[in-house]
Amino acid sequence: MKVTLSVLKADIGSVGGHTLPSRKVLAKVEEVVREEVGRLLLDAYVFHIGDDIVLLLSHTRGVRNQEVHALAWKAFREGTEVAKAEGLYGAGQDLLKDAFTGNLHGLGPQVAEMEFTERPAEPFMVLAADKTEPGAFNLPLYLAFADPMYSSGLLLSPELRPGFRFRIMDLAQTERDSYIELDAPERLYDIATLLRDSHRFAIESIWSRKHGEQAAVVSTTRLRNIAGRYVGKDDPVAIVRTQKIFPATEEFGPVFALAPYVAGDTRGSHHMPLMPVRANTPASTFFCVPMVCGLAFSLREGRLSEPVDLFADPVWEAVRAKVVEKAQEMRRQGFFGPAMLPMEELEYTGIAERLKALEREFS
Ligand code: 13P
Ligand code: MG
Ligand code: MG
Repeated sequence: MKVTLSVLKADIGSVGGHTLPSRKVLAKVEEVVREEVGRLLLDAYVFHIGDDIVLLLSHTRGVRNQEVHALAWKAFREGTEVAKAEGLYGAGQDLLKDAFTGNLHGLGPQVAEMEFTERPAEPFMVLAADKTEPGAFNLPLYLAFADPMYSSGLLLSPELRPGFRFRIMDLAQTERDSYIELDAPERLYDIATLLRDSHRFAIESIWSRKHGEQAAVVSTTRLRNIAGRYVGKDDPVAIVRTQKIFPATEEFGPVFALAPYVAGDTRGSHHMPLMPVRANTPASTFFCVPMVCGLAFSLREGRLSEPVDLFADPVWEAVRAKVVEKAQEMRRQGFFGPAMLPMEELEYTGIAERLKALEREFS
């Protein structure tokens, strides 16, 4: 059976700062979506990461479907009304346009969608991050799909051995979408050359070379490209199919335990480690350390099993303790050097304006 998974995510307001959506907002969004289960949708699951609400929708309408996107838009709009009534911070933050124009691309919410023929057992996971950018997934996904030091399946399984194709987007191209497709392992150095620059290049999708099947898709929306100014971080989502012809679910653990430094956190203007957390975790008051959560599901005729929280078992408490140290170490140097983003990535204009004024004082 051909199934589409659509993961749609938006920040539509949060309690006491950029922390988490209120229970009432979440309930409203869930209510709107639930009404369509058994009609437009086969199934749905709603959760949050930090201040972002994530909708996982399964259906048979294909990607970029107008009715599915319209439903998500309606849920986010009605949720925004509740957020406004409650006086939540940044109510409607990611809904950057007033009117729905056919699909959610270019309107603000993050979109990651995949259509595939369901396998007899179809395990997959949804990754959702807060206080960071789409390129934050570059290193974990590169290591899981291309590096046998992390992904032993690349050596052990004949299904994985021919490698994976990486489709990488140039986020600096704002006029139209611009992609390159590179095969691992032959083009490994070229892939690394692009992915190291996570502000500019982001993995958009990954494909099995042996089977031509799609393994992963990442949302690549840059809010700044839509709004022309900083309105919040791009807080990406991804869908990753696992097992058999793809890396195993547990092969993604060590790559996320690395917690690489990524762009984001407070005012979207610094570098901090990407901390793996449980789903439905509020943003951290420790300088909004970037966070990623992962929920794995099984799928049967488009219906979702209960989820398993990938970063909830005891190992992750030890990982988090180390990531906290890494985060605190970076914060100790405040605004200096790599702690703050380079000029062209700074989301606030304050420093650029002061520099201009100071340049006039030089003699
Ligand atoms: P969000 O993008 O998660 O709303 O965070 C914005 C911000 O600037 C936090 O300091
Ligand atoms: Mg916010
Ligand atoms: Mg957010």
